[in-house]
Amino acid sequence: MAPMNIVFIASEAAPLAKTGGLADVAGSLPLALSRLGHRVTVILPYYRKQIGASGAPVNAMNKAVTIWVDGVNRTAPLHKAVVEGVDFILVEQDDLFARDGIYGPAGGAWEDNFPRYLFFSRAALETSCMLGAPVDILHCHDWQTGFIPLLAKTQYQHRTHLAKAKSVFTIHNLAYQGCFPSFWLHRLGLPADYYHTGCYEFYSQINCMKAGIAAADHVTTVSKTYAEEILTPEYGCALNGFLGDHKNKLSGIVNGLDIENWDPSGDSAIAAPFGPGKLAGKAACKAALQAETGLSSDSEQPMLTMISRLAEQKGVDLLLDCIPGWLQEGYQIAILGSGEPAWEAALHRLAAERPQQMYFHAGFDEGLARRIYAAGDIFLMPSRFEPCGLGQLMAMRYANIPVVRATGGLKDTVTDYAQDRNNATGFAFTEPNPDAFRAALDSAVETWRKPIVWKHVMGNAIKRDSSWDASANSYLELYASLND
Ligand code: GLC
Repeated sequence: MAPMNIVFIASEAAPLAKTGGLADVAGSLPLALSRLGHRVTVILPYYRKQIGASGAPVNAMNKAVTIWVDGVNRTAPLHKAVVEGVDFILVEQDDLFARDGIYGPAGGAWEDNFPRYLFFSRAALETSCMLGAPVDILHCHDWQTGFIPLLAKTQYQHRTHLAKAKSVFTIHNLAYQGCFPSFWLHRLGLPADYYHTGCYEFYSQINCMKAGIAAADHVTTVSKTYAEEILTPEYGCALNGFLGDHKNKLSGIVNGLDIENWDPSGDSAIAAPFGPGKLAGKAACKAALQAETGLSSDSEQPMLTMISRLAEQKGVDLLLDCIPGWLQEGYQIAILGSGEPAWEAALHRLAAERPQQMYFHAGFDEGLARRIYAAGDIFLMPSRFEPCGLGQLMAMRYANIPVVRATGGLKDTVTDYAQDRNNATGFAFTEPNPDAFRAALDSAVETWRKPIVWKHVMGNAIKRDSSWDASANSYLELYASLND
């Protein structure tokens, strides 16, 4: 395959700026594609505060793009950070991006998110026209970049660098569509006849995700099962019909993990290394977390763990229903996550009642996350829906056996003990209710109490290939098919 010039455009990418799984993918997939011999450039807004805090070295490029906004030309200087040989180009516009939150103040959204990301989208297209070679693929991610495929086809098709570019739009989470009042329409500068239900109009609003689905040459989601689920009313977030109209260009490619970064045999954040065939270090990791968090040093009880955004999507209500009974059984629980204040408060209350048995840390802390993955026996992921999910991949890699709801990427990546004992990497349940979750957890704990069987499941989980290799190749095949 001839090397391609691929441009990734996303609103966040690890390690520079991260609020969720999108950043992990936008940070690690480009590295995998570049290792396969392609030229990949990632374009991001320059969130001066967050990117500054990441510690990554950023250099001014002495280049800028100029964007016309509401009758005024605005100049956006470009900066660059290089991560493992891949260029991350950062678009500066401090009044839009140098703020305390990436998408909004804690728990909220900035009121000008539409013009912020429209500005970024145009600036990313202009930046693409300045790269060393014409672009083969514009790979856009989630609603923040939804207008790029349409702008590329209507306002940038005459630019030599973009004349042959094909666009791919990846849906990481259909629940966030980027809907904004129609008074912003004038900012788009598109002919009025694009504003209709077959394009980005949605109940008299502008829907950025619809724009991406309508205009991209191909649409992907982050697992095969989620690609099917979003065609149904239950998971389609009111776009199932519209997605059905475009299903010929819709497919699912499951996410991978940067397996060098997530490797328990060489992770300096954890108490003792472990790996396939040498799982002994895991017990030391469990003891170390117990000491760190004030949990009793008990190896006779399973440690249940969870690392998650605390949002409805993640099934936190199911979890809260189950915790009291599990504490009654004597199990230990360690949870890291932030989100809805009411849920944080409920978890704090439960932990305060039994501090030797349950630990909750509100917030995010990568080192603690790694120590929890390494220490846990069982990892909880009762998601109501899950486009892919990365927590279960990290957990399996750290021999922390996931108990998941069989939906989206969880269904595609975890092999259920009840279905296939020999190859099992976890436990799954189907109905989104506490009884089904409890039953799956009971089965996991029962298996945990059989050390030889459990060791076999841990071995399967830790050996599972969650690398990007297969999926990066699937993306390359897709890109190549679009360029034929
Ligand atoms: C979103 C989805 C998650 C997925 C991630 C990366 O955060 O909720 O399931 O793994 O994007 O694609």
